[in-house]
Amino acid sequence: LLLWYFLLFGENMNGTIIWLTGLSGAGKTTIVQALEPHLTALGRAVEVLDGDAVRETLSKGLGFSKEDRDTNIKRIGFVANLLAKNGVTVLVSAISPYRDARREVLETAKQNGVKTLEVFVDAPLEVVAERDVKGLYKKALAGEIKHFTGVSDPYEAPLAPDLHLCTDQQPLQASVQAILERL
Ligand SMILES: Nc1ncnc2c1ncn2[C@@H]1O[C@H](COP(=O)(O)OP(=O)(O)OP(=O)(O)O)[C@@H](O)[C@H]1O
Ligand SMILES: [Mg+2]
Repeated sequence: LLLWYFLLFGENMNGTIIWLTGLSGAGKTTIVQALEPHLTALGRAVEVLDGDAVRETLSKGLGFSKEDRDTNIKRIGFVANLLAKNGVTVLVSAISPYRDARREVLETAKQNGVKTLEVFVDAPLEVVAERDVKGLYKKALAGEIKHFTGVSDPYEAPLAPDLHLCTDQQPLQASVQAILERL
């Protein structure tokens, strides 16, 4: 009976972390919002950890030094892991500019038996600065914002992401489909 149970449910006990990294304005939040209803429709339990929401709550008070950014990612990773260990599909949309911080979180997840997908949401700086969704690039390029990723702070692109989405070249739905296919 136990064997039967595991054959039936064993595979579904661990969740998944889909980690979207990329410059501000690259499309992380947009993709997550479009993806979420598809996953819910598949019967998955889904939670979203979006950088903006996290910085207002879990990481309120943290700044944008490397140390604070790493702390922010560790916190997101901690929560993502707790959820994923319990079968949740966790969608993380956070700039997460440092390679080592991302790797640490995703390694821990893998050790927990959690499936991980590192998704590089990519668009050139010229494109995201032109989109300027939040009006921050204008200020950053004028030198008014210190520690702005891609302008006055580093962004370490994934060297071998599980998925590389070029949002300046493919429409939103193509990115959503690409992630769904990888699951
Ligand atoms: N193919 C595309 N895929 C995703 N977003 C696109 C695409 N083409 C244009 N956009 C636009 O790019 C913008 C991306 O903004 P979004 O807030 O999703 O970025 P973000 O990566 O979450 O940035 P931040 O790190 O600042 O939260 C949106 O205005 C979206 O409509
Ligand atoms: Mg966002």
